[in-house]
Amino acid sequence: MNSLVNWSAIQELNARSLPGGTLSEKGANEMWSRVAKMYDFMAGLERQYTLNQVNAMKLDKEDSVIDIGCGVGRLTVPIAQRVGRVTALDVADKMLEICKVNVEKAGLDNVSYKKLDWNGVNPNTSIEKHHIAFASRSVGLKDIIKLNNTATKYAYLLSFTGYPSLRDVQMEMLTGIRGIKKREVNEEQSRMFGYNITFNLLYDLGIDPMVQVVEDGFERTYESKEEAYDDLRQVTVELGENADLTDEEENLFQQNVDEYITYIDGKYRFLRNTKTFVIGWKPITL
Ligand SMILES: C[S@@+](CC[C@H](N)C(=O)[O-])C[C@H]1O[C@@H](n2cnc3c(N)ncnc32)[C@H](O)[C@@H]1O
Repeated sequence: MNSLVNWSAIQELNARSLPGGTLSEKGANEMWSRVAKMYDFMAGLERQYTLNQVNAMKLDKEDSVIDIGCGVGRLTVPIAQRVGRVTALDVADKMLEICKVNVEKAGLDNVSYKKLDWNGVNPNTSIEKHHIAFASRSVGLKDIIKLNNTATKYAYLLSFTGYPSLRDVQMEMLTGIRGIKKREVNEEQSRMFGYNITFNLLYDLGIDPMVQVVEDGFERTYESKEEAYDDLRQVTVELGENADLTDEEENLFQQNVDEYITYIDGKYRFLRNTKTFVIGWKPITL
């Protein structure tokens, strides 16, 4: 179908500005493996809100599901609890390793793992079809046709609608430390390059997308502020080998964290709210 606007070109330009968007298989494995532990920690803070995303997907207990760029299994685990089986696909060894641990911790035995570079997958031949194929905050967002052709019942794309993303939440705990700056967000511009692009790409392919935007967030409740700092300090792994904070850096870290802590009923709650879009569609022949 002819398109009024060249959404593919807009998506391409936007994707180039995303981290890891143009990495080789080896480069992607290295980069994502390095941050896997951090992702696992952040996925823990997001556990409750992640269920909003799972609830937005039509899932049956007989379904087979493929999670493209599964990461540490943030969605793999709660989805595997609701369906027949899940294939967890990722390019990064460390992500898959942690995903396996999380699946086992949840007592599940219906997940299989595939270490694969999704960019190298041929859309028509080289991947087994599943009832549901989805990509959340991952490389799968880039290639709608490949995702469409991997699903027989529904395909889904999920990501943050805008600010703050997981990376913003993580980095803003470290703002001011070793040159780390808060990302400057132009709200108008980030809305211009939002899920409207995905919606329109799907629309122009002849698909009728279902769009849901769900509440998302990173939260945990602690007995004391010290307990909160000790736990949230895990984000400092981002600083590399010499991640120990000096006294001055520790003060900055605590000030940053304090902005998002509220004292309720004798407990300290860290909360950063955000929103995630879940766009689904019935696959069509493309
Ligand atoms: C931001 S994480 C998202 C993880 C998970 N889907 C979630 O929503 O929590 C992106 C994931 O995509 C994986 N990834 C990046 N490039 C990939 C590629 N070319 N093929 C397969 N997986 C890839 C990364 O290793 C990482 O686990």
